[in-house]
Amino acid sequence: MYRTKYCQEISSADVGERVNVCGWVQKQRDLGSLIFVDLRDRSGIIQLAFDETTKKEIFDIAFTLRSEFVVQASGIVRSRGEAVNANKATGAVEIAVDELKVLNTSLTPPFEIVENSDTKEELRLKYRYLDLRRPDLKNNIVLRHKIAKLARDYYDENGFLEIETPTLVRSTPEGARDYLVPSRVHPGTFYALPQSPQLYKQLLMVSGFDRYMQIARCYRDEDLRADRQPEFTQIDLEMSFADEDDVMSVNERFIQRVFKEFCDADVELPIRRMSYEEAMDKYGSDKPDLRYGFELINVTDALRGCGFKVFNSAIEDGGSVRCINLKGYADSFSRKEIDKLQDFVKTYRAKGLAWAKYSAELTSSFAKFMTEEELGKLYGAAGFEKGDLLLIVADSNPTVVFDSLGALRCHVAKHLGLDDKKKFCFVWITSFPMFQWDEEEKRYVAMHHPFTAPKDEDLHLLDTDPSKVRAKAYDIVLNGWEMGGGSVRIHRRDVQSKIFDIIGITKEEADEKFGFLLEAFKYGAPPHAGMAFGLDRLVSLVIGLDAIRDCIAFPKVQNACELMTECPAPVPQNALNDLKIKLDLE
Ligand code: AMO
Ligand code: AMP
Repeated sequence: MYRTKYCQEISSADVGERVNVCGWVQKQRDLGSLIFVDLRDRSGIIQLAFDETTKKEIFDIAFTLRSEFVVQASGIVRSRGEAVNANKATGAVEIAVDELKVLNTSLTPPFEIVENSDTKEELRLKYRYLDLRRPDLKNNIVLRHKIAKLARDYYDENGFLEIETPTLVRSTPEGARDYLVPSRVHPGTFYALPQSPQLYKQLLMVSGFDRYMQIARCYRDEDLRADRQPEFTQIDLEMSFADEDDVMSVNERFIQRVFKEFCDADVELPIRRMSYEEAMDKYGSDKPDLRYGFELINVTDALRGCGFKVFNSAIEDGGSVRCINLKGYADSFSRKEIDKLQDFVKTYRAKGLAWAKYSAELTSSFAKFMTEEELGKLYGAAGFEKGDLLLIVADSNPTVVFDSLGALRCHVAKHLGLDDKKKFCFVWITSFPMFQWDEEEKRYVAMHHPFTAPKDEDLHLLDTDPSKVRAKAYDIVLNGWEMGGGSVRIHRRDVQSKIFDIIGITKEEADEKFGFLLEAFKYGAPPHAGMAFGLDRLVSLVIGLDAIRDCIAFPKVQNACELMTECPAPVPQNALNDLKIKLDLE
């Protein structure tokens, strides 16, 4: 037998027992008459020992071992006595090896296979199969498996059926650009890779499956960020005869299970809910990080008509002035660091950052432009006192103020070390606006997707003021990350047509794009609702990763390439000919 135990399973309880182990040489230490080899497998590391009692031919093989050689060893487990290594889980024992086989040799790897490697990521991704041998990365992948398994078990226990939906589909309406797959059989036509299983899962509700779930691959051709990949995985689900509370309740119990099992954290239920409006107003973001305060304070009224042009003209142009007061942190930021904060907010289109710092004395970037009375009003409204640092953004466009201060509060919290990864602050964001105004296209677009139901009490506003209509949509947010989202769907045809009208989809277009769904809705569609978690984000948050690619076995980089296989790649001319595709790369 190649193996009787994984390395990590061997403990003091096995002393005196024979074990067979297989794996890779982490390190060989040759001390003359003694050789120690750290052997690594999926589970961890065990020490193999060779000494004067070892048969000569075995000792000679041990002498030739190099990093990453693949070996099989057999021997008796013994205690290390005095030489216990407290840093290793198996540090109390070793194997006195009496049989050793080199199953394969290895080139010297381009980087050392160790935890917390500081090797450049590009090189690690090119040799991802070696990178995945590193314990930290490997453990992420193992944990991902466990979370996916828990999801399957949990939703099964709650009556959900896992049903696969196609991945060669008609375009789905999630709002990103589609990845297209040309059809050979029908030249000139294309499949899209699904941005989500949205339409199919709704059709499964019409079919009467009642509760569906799927661990589903999704594809979106959008700009990559630390929390976004062009292909990613959702824990996707849909429920019939369910409303917002039903969806939230079943899913927050799932979250509770995940964080208990993998973080030993107790998530208190029900998870707090916050309206989109409150989230924007207090945190400048629809995914607020609630691990710290630093709420946005609206000082527009306190500054109306003041002498500082930057503030006053923003207000006169219909905008606002808001600030965050870093209570007690005046001494935590030098002038130079405040200047860096100026540059930071400018990346969010803010024109500048006004500040007041009350250390030993009060200094500010704007006092010279304002009267004592005006300053008093501002400081009063902001609760600004000795020890505080006040950071202010004014803009005629309220979105710029929210975006820049929303990002700034997270940025300064990070600087101050308040972003504790072991603290889990969940919040449901609810009551999203139904529509967003698209400045480029000069029309409303659906904020979630066009099948999301408006709030019953706002239905009358569809005709008069669509911008005020709120949706039965919800996002689950953790520590500033949107971990999942969903909505109650429209199952009434008259409401659906009205929504299409508002977002400028004509009846013909609607029939063209989603005719099958609208047709299906004529045959007894039950009320239904659902949501999807980003599995990659959920795993990242459980582990405390900064980027989701660290829990994806073979991720893509910023420009959507995969460095190991070097895809995307050109295809031979005859493949294009088959598809009747002519390239125009000018
Ligand atoms: P939504 O578009 O909000 O909703 O996606 C749901 C969740 O999927 C994750 N996610 C991503 N993760 C990694 N990379 C990406 N590019 C990416 N895009 C989204 C996020 C997000 O919260 N069909 C609806 C769900 C529903 O209404 O039931 C949907 O896809 O964690
Ligand atoms: P200035 O008169 O350009 O020296 O600006 C005085 C202060 O106001 C500086 O700290 C600027 O960064 C800041 N400032 C400029 N524009 C804005 C703005 N839109 N919002 C907040 N502060 C600003």
